[in-house]
Amino acid sequence: MDHTRTILGLESSCDDTAAAIVRQSGAAKPEILSSVVFGQTDLHSAFGGVVPEIAARAHAEKLDHCVRDALNESGITLKDLDAVAVTAGPGLIGGVMSGVMCAKGIAAATGLPLVGVNHLAGHALTPRLTDQIPYPYLMLLVSGGHCQFLIARGPEDFTRLGGTIDDAPGEAFDKTARLLGLPQPGGPSVQAEAEAGDPQRFRFPRPMLDRKDCNMSFSGLKTALMRMRDQIVAEKGGLTRQDRADLCAGFQAAVVDVLVGKTRRALALYMDTNPPVATVSVAGGVAANTEIRAGLQAACAEYGAQFTAPPLHLCTDNAAMIAYAGLERFDTGARDGMDLMARPRWPLDQTSPAMLGSGRKGAKA
Ligand code: KG4
Ligand code: ZN
Repeated sequence: MDHTRTILGLESSCDDTAAAIVRQSGAAKPEILSSVVFGQTDLHSAFGGVVPEIAARAHAEKLDHCVRDALNESGITLKDLDAVAVTAGPGLIGGVMSGVMCAKGIAAATGLPLVGVNHLAGHALTPRLTDQIPYPYLMLLVSGGHCQFLIARGPEDFTRLGGTIDDAPGEAFDKTARLLGLPQPGGPSVQAEAEAGDPQRFRFPRPMLDRKDCNMSFSGLKTALMRMRDQIVAEKGGLTRQDRADLCAGFQAAVVDVLVGKTRRALALYMDTNPPVATVSVAGGVAANTEIRAGLQAACAEYGAQFTAPPLHLCTDNAAMIAYAGLERFDTGARDGMDLMARPRWPLDQTSPAMLGSGRKGAKA
């Protein structure tokens, strides 16, 4: 295949409104011509979490601005596009509907083909966009709403090896920050605080680490943290700066141990049945954590596996990953009609059993 495909991607499944244009000529390295992201953190900050109705309204208001900016920045026009790709789920339903309606409007007005994309596939295919890694590979998707191990074999061919049975790690970081009076999003502030802390002082649980499967649990960590915090406050009348740093360091060490320990299990399972040289990648906001990245890299080195991590701005929610995942679907001949549905839940691996619960940012598919 040596022709050029230029795809507009739209993303609005959570609290980022985004549009991007990705182009690939033949099998050459894909190019991100533009990637525009309007974050909504300020709109939700007073509420301690994402408010679905506010998010949906903001997406509806911002999507066309994002599309205009993405077109302007790339220097192309709607006529130069080959398709419109859009996140059709999983996520907060109002936001997903805003994106799907916008994409349908563009497709109806221009005659461009419409391609619905699974948001999680967008994350999972990002290492192909950034590093062109070949199928198959092992993926750890770890964000504020998701946590799962996947074997990626094709744009719509994923096997789920395991995942969280309750909270996502990003959620646990955010709750920890809230319990300790640190700013949101919690991941970066807890990580910064942990740098001055002693990870040994408080021993947090490592739930499910002794089990042979690849499932994880993070909801008990916040309860443990709250108990330790309350105990210190009862004993000393408050938290010192050092107490807070030690709590953050202890909490982060527990998350690292669980993610790295389960990555070892996933890798061992994967290497039993796949090519001798395994490639592992990670995506999602929590992949920005330096301790987690370092731990995953070390675990991969133990197994002789290659480790790649996309740059941070492509780990967090963006539309370039949706445009690229759309491009891969487009190449398979996939097209959606005006009956494309917005789906709040949409597991990548339809055959694996559904996981429990639903996170702060929507369904944990
Ligand atoms: O992928 P993302 O931008 O949004 C979705 O969840 O879809 O991930 C955001 C999550 C937040 O929970 C945030 O606290 C976490 O990623 N995060 C981090 C770090 N940076 C962001 N968690 C741990 N360490 C970090 N450095
Ligand atoms: Zn995401």
